[in-house]
Amino acid sequence: MVDTHADAGWLRSAGLDRTDLDPADWDAFRATAHAALDGIIDYIAGIRDRPVWQPVPAAVRDEFRAPLPRDRANIDQVCAEFDRLVLPYATGNVHPRFMGWVHGGGNAAGMIGEMLAAGLNANLGGRDHAPIVLERQVIGWMAEAFGLPQSTGGLLVTGTSIANLIAVLIARAAHAGAAVRRDGVAAHRLTAYTSAAAHGCIPSAMDISGLGTAALRMIPTDSNGRIELQALTDSIEQDRTHGCTPFLIVGTAGTVDIGAIDDLAGLATICRREGLWFHVDGAFGALAALSPSLRPLVTGLEHADSVGFDFHKWGQVPYDAGCILVRKPHLAEQAFASPAAYLRHEARGLAGGAPWPCDFGPDLSRGFRALKVWFTLKTWGADRIGEVIARTCHLAGYLADRVDAEPMLERMAPVALNIVCFRYRFPKDADRENAELVADLQESGIAAPSATTIGGRLAIRAALVNHRTQAEDVDALVDAVLTLGERRCVGL
Ligand SMILES: Cc1ncc(COP(=O)(O)O)c(C=O)c1O
Repeated sequence: MVDTHADAGWLRSAGLDRTDLDPADWDAFRATAHAALDGIIDYIAGIRDRPVWQPVPAAVRDEFRAPLPRDRANIDQVCAEFDRLVLPYATGNVHPRFMGWVHGGGNAAGMIGEMLAAGLNANLGGRDHAPIVLERQVIGWMAEAFGLPQSTGGLLVTGTSIANLIAVLIARAAHAGAAVRRDGVAAHRLTAYTSAAAHGCIPSAMDISGLGTAALRMIPTDSNGRIELQALTDSIEQDRTHGCTPFLIVGTAGTVDIGAIDDLAGLATICRREGLWFHVDGAFGALAALSPSLRPLVTGLEHADSVGFDFHKWGQVPYDAGCILVRKPHLAEQAFASPAAYLRHEARGLAGGAPWPCDFGPDLSRGFRALKVWFTLKTWGADRIGEVIARTCHLAGYLADRVDAEPMLERMAPVALNIVCFRYRFPKDADRENAELVADLQESGIAAPSATTIGGRLAIRAALVNHRTQAEDVDALVDAVLTLGERRCVGL
């Protein structure tokens, strides 16, 4: 039991007078911290000389099975363990030849933001302090970039999966009324619409929000991977005829498989006509708005009721950094605010600054993600990020040309943005062999694309996202695919 009468003497005799976690010797800590920073800077600066990825060896996995450390250790030893056990076996997305999934490369300015945020240890759930003011500035910048009104609100979140979930919940309450939070959705037959090429987190958001995945209509796409508008309107009409209540359309700016961008202006028109919420999943594609040459591709984004997107993909901000923007923030408040005595908002003092970020989403405690975004945007400027984005699309065009010029390679989809899907022409078992070829490439350490299926056929998928990627890296990928593909053919 806790002794409530403890005095200084008692604490001392119990050995509890010095239990803070600050270093006993700040100078020694400073040297350790500087060395750790030097180490990670060396890692980034020398990334080209490393394999893109290497599997975690069994011996290293074993070391992670050590039990909870009960005693203290020297922090230099902990740093050395990080260098030995973690650093060599990371995902590899800092590397210019990482081309799998849609992973951003991070950037050194953003890393400083992340480091300072850890030291500041701010909680952005609420209250009145500069970190929240800064986050609101970032939200305002993105509203400006996307052509949304300055009154737009939003939050930085872990990623677009959560941003999309938040959007579905806001749209649900906007349509069914705030009482849906108490009564549930049983009385409403709400239906939502997105394309068959939408990311899996959209059905997942329907599931988590209690609406059910069966209430999501996956509308077919055209040959360019864009949602079919006529099929969409037909589906809405049919649902109304059957007594359902359409409430939401989710358009995609940059589909996960091939980077297709829906006709956002067309979707906005349908939403306006039908009285539906218009959400855009712009996980990576929305930031095309930062590039003057790509901006027209996302025309219509400015009409969205909400936009989910990631800074940690094309925005090159270190993980994790997603964002949800909401045109009418009071609707987010309606969907999430839960007054509690211990969270009293006041007119002045530290408890001022209402509404608080916790009123707009499900998180109460929130870290200072906005700082690494702010550092990135201020250091490089939005135009430079736009140039990086445009260049990855040019590189994708270059890769597509190289694929098209190689008789042993076959392109599997049009290139809308920065994703190229192709495969090796194996004489048999092409799906299995191409999947193995992707693993061969990853294990070679030369390049790390991922795999997907296009029209039921397995494709090697190269998403060019990293700002460090050059034409020579694209060449290295193609050369490695040809060499390793030929090697596989020998065994067939
Ligand atoms: C179109 C799309 N939506 C949503 C997501 C999920 O984003 P996150 O991984 O940041 O949650 C992705 C991820 O690649 C995506 O491509």
